[in-house]
Amino acid sequence: MGLLLRGILLLSACTLTAGVDFQLGSKPFGQSGFVRRSNTEGKAAKIVKRSLPAWLAPSPNHKIKRRSTEEDDSCKALQGYATKLDANTHDFEFHDLSGSVSLAWVGDGTGVILALTTFQVPFFMVKLGQSKLYRSEDYGKSFQDVTVLINNTFIRSEFGIAISPSNSGKVILTAEVSGDLKTRIFVSEDFGKSFTDRNLPFNPLTQITYNPENSSVLVVLSNDYELWLSEDFGVNWKNIHRMVCLVKWGRKNTIYFTASLNGSCIDRGMLELRRTTNYGKTIKTVASKIYSFGLGGRFLFASVMTGKGTLRTIHVSVDQGDSWNIAQLPPVGHEQFYSILAANDEMVFMHVDEPGDTGFGTIYVSDDRGTVYSKSLERHLYTTTGGDTDFTNVTSLRGVFITSVLAEDNSVQSVVSFDQGGEWVPLQKPANSKCDATAKDPDKCSLHIHAAYSTSQKLSIPMLPLTEPNAVGLIIAHGSVGDAISVMRPDVYVSDDGGYTWIKALDGPHHYAILDSGGLLVAVEHSMTNPVNKIKFSTDEGQCWNEYNFTKDPIFFTGLASEPGARSMNVSIWGYRDSYLSQYWTSFTIDFKELLTRTCEDRDYVQWLAHSDDISDPDDGCLLGYKEKFLRLRKDSVCWNGRDYKVSTQPTPCLCTLDDFMCDFGYYRKENSSECVEQPDLTDKVLEFCLQGKEEQLQTSGYRKIPGDKCEGGEVHSRKEIDLSKRCVSDLVGPELLVDNKASKSVPVVITVVIVLILSIAAGVVFVKKYVCGGRFLVHRYSVLQQHVEANAADGIDEPLETNHTQNGKIEFHDDSDEDLLE
Ligand SMILES: *[C@@H]1O[C@H](CO)[C@@H](O)[C@H](O)[C@H]1NC(C)=O
Ligand SMILES: *[C@@H]1O[C@H](CO)[C@@H](O)[C@H](O)[C@H]1NC(C)=O
Ligand SMILES: *[C@@H]1O[C@H](CO)[C@@H](O)[C@H](O)[C@H]1NC(C)=O
Ligand SMILES: *[C@@H]1O[C@H](CO)[C@@H](O)[C@H](O)[C@H]1NC(C)=O
Ligand SMILES: *[C@@H]1O[C@H](CO)[C@@H](O)[C@H](O)[C@H]1NC(C)=O
Ligand SMILES: *[C@@H]1O[C@H](CO)[C@@H](O)[C@H](O)[C@H]1NC(C)=O
Ligand SMILES: *[C@@H]1O[C@H](CO)[C@@H](O)[C@H](O)[C@H]1NC(C)=O
Repeated sequence: MGLLLRGILLLSACTLTAGVDFQLGSKPFGQSGFVRRSNTEGKAAKIVKRSLPAWLAPSPNHKIKRRSTEEDDSCKALQGYATKLDANTHDFEFHDLSGSVSLAWVGDGTGVILALTTFQVPFFMVKLGQSKLYRSEDYGKSFQDVTVLINNTFIRSEFGIAISPSNSGKVILTAEVSGDLKTRIFVSEDFGKSFTDRNLPFNPLTQITYNPENSSVLVVLSNDYELWLSEDFGVNWKNIHRMVCLVKWGRKNTIYFTASLNGSCIDRGMLELRRTTNYGKTIKTVASKIYSFGLGGRFLFASVMTGKGTLRTIHVSVDQGDSWNIAQLPPVGHEQFYSILAANDEMVFMHVDEPGDTGFGTIYVSDDRGTVYSKSLERHLYTTTGGDTDFTNVTSLRGVFITSVLAEDNSVQSVVSFDQGGEWVPLQKPANSKCDATAKDPDKCSLHIHAAYSTSQKLSIPMLPLTEPNAVGLIIAHGSVGDAISVMRPDVYVSDDGGYTWIKALDGPHHYAILDSGGLLVAVEHSMTNPVNKIKFSTDEGQCWNEYNFTKDPIFFTGLASEPGARSMNVSIWGYRDSYLSQYWTSFTIDFKELLTRTCEDRDYVQWLAHSDDISDPDDGCLLGYKEKFLRLRKDSVCWNGRDYKVSTQPTPCLCTLDDFMCDFGYYRKENSSECVEQPDLTDKVLEFCLQGKEEQLQTSGYRKIPGDKCEGGEVHSRKEIDLSKRCVSDLVGPELLVDNKASKSVPVVITVVIVLILSIAAGVVFVKKYVCGGRFLVHRYSVLQQHVEANAADGIDEPLETNHTQNGKIEFHDDSDEDLLE
């Protein structure tokens, strides 16, 4: 199921971001936006000094190892592939002058692609436009013009193509009917073969969203903030609430939304969070004084205004909002924000913006209840203005995350964590690269990865880092090698072991894609000015690259497109030709199946132990309490994994050590030590905290297992929570519980907490809070929204609360299902 679901999430993710957008003509895709600017120049400097030994990569013995029988580094070019590929290259010309194309894959493994071209000109307040719809049933090798199915209606490209999140073949196109400016949708239930039109009794403000668990049920906000719902795939609509500011699907057919009592979504902080589990028949208010809310994994977060003033705090619920706990995170003021960077059922990574417009904040990682947080990374780059962060879940290896910090000298430097945020270190310098001009010491420098921040700075970075869960260990990304990220022309780097070691794979910026579960990588050079006719491909995870001319007549290249999920062997190269009088879209689809010639057999795979150098060492490779052996393709095997390839892994539990625990309430770690020591000011005090509305007393030895840790035996630390059965109220959540004097009392506590934080900057220190149950909860506060999302919502533009790093107009298929969880 994992597999299927993942593929589908991909589809929905890409279509929610309007599919693949290319621009043609004067604004070719990725060109107008990518002007090299030097505003980060002069920021070069050294790695941020954290409490970690900065130059120690976590395992200095990691060597680049080729999983091949020959150990030599020479590339043996494949022979005779050109004729095989010639026979499997299909080109298709669109007689279409439109400025943009959106692509959407309908269904998983169906080969059905819808291509929507739109041509739009603003004409006195009214947008005049024309759309054409094309459909392919063979992975893009050929398309049919099916514009007649939508009656030549103009489709609003900003809403894109909405594909249902299960393989049900449902598609929604949102049209604008000129004249009365009414909205009509075209819906299909047969993978886009036929469409029916339906008039909406309202004008939508946002894309229509599918219930993730039942694709017949749709919700959408209208442009006058009414919440509309359809249970029959758009035939009948009912208005279930007025003045709704933000709506999201939860699990089990639950809809959460914030509603304004005052009739305005601008009045943030005065909203009510409501929930319905029966499509609007009954609606329950689950929290008040809400600024915004978000979903991540099994957690529901709400940012709640404190009793007085402008501070807000985060509250967490793991039971759909029936009961709340206060997250022990610092409260934030008006100009600050919270953001869920990543979340699953076990934990969340939360970014808390620093006061003032610093462009950075602190990452905290939660415990399994979402209430206790450990400080993970300081000076984490997350711009307030652009709302951009480089935070990336490396989905090809468990526990690995990459992001950037803003050093004291304002340089941007990449760091990686191999243990789910426990420790962050610079990325090891690729063996085949030299340090660039940013390096003070030419022998000592690290790799820096370009991600969302670089694209927001308009550096020429055509793609974000790419990883796929079924291409184990593989990461492809743009980067530079020095003391800090460089604004000069980036190169493409590849890691095959989840980010421990890297090689420089390609010179200069490229578009790239992973095919056949990592068995094949393809790349096309990104050039602003020159037409291209060359695709590069690698069958050994990026070490050796072959080149193939897919056409004699070069095209202006706009992007690569392959089916989300990285299981395909078909890739399309999209671009346009500039002929004498006109420009027209063209695509080349290459089927690599014949190149790889045969199905992989057992002898093509070798065992590989994740997070390890030495598979024979019994203590090596443990991460979060277990180690995993994978069967991976040998680098020198040229064969196909196939569509049904499943990642095969054998997890084995490890003995528990102190590193499998985080420090509990009232405890922290000293620098360079794994031991949790009691916080001096809390010694001999009874720790009380409020959990699920109950006052409890905690008896702890100071350790709590890290969320998701599966270690067995070894160190055992007892921990017991005693239910005092006294009801204690968590600050402000229940409307009837709002008492004004709470805030004034809790302020001093908050301040002491903040001081504690500052004192405990040591690496991986768990920050501890105490709260006073009988009196007030003094806890820390949270709110879950991303700053720009909050800002947008204030404008009444409802956006998914996701930390989606997708850049407008970029070709990306996020297969990061966590992002979907957050929306
Ligand atoms: C297309 O338009 C014609 C005339 O306006 C109408 O009769 C027909 O039902 C429409 N078809 C669709 C699929 O909307
Ligand atoms: C989806 O929802 C509709 C309308 O509530 C219901 O009739 C149908 O049975 C549901 N389908 C599934 C698979 O739950
Ligand atoms: C409505 O708005 C007014 C003025 O902004 C404010 O004083 C009042 O408290 C608000 N009422 C509610 C219920 O939010
Ligand atoms: C990171 O991605 C992996 C693979 O998709 C997923 O299993 C994991 O839950 C994600 N981690 C977080 C913290 O979101
Ligand atoms: C591929 O195209 C390039 C540039 O058009 C040309 O120089 C080169 O000779 C071609 N290679 C082959 C094998 O045709
Ligand atoms: C590539 O496309 C062809 C149809 O043109 C399809 O039959 C084949 O399954 C596709 N290959 C993969 C691996 O998706
Ligand atoms: C922690 O370890 C680093 C490197 O080994 C060392 O430089 C630093 O002084 C240590 N800190 C403490 C407090 O011992």
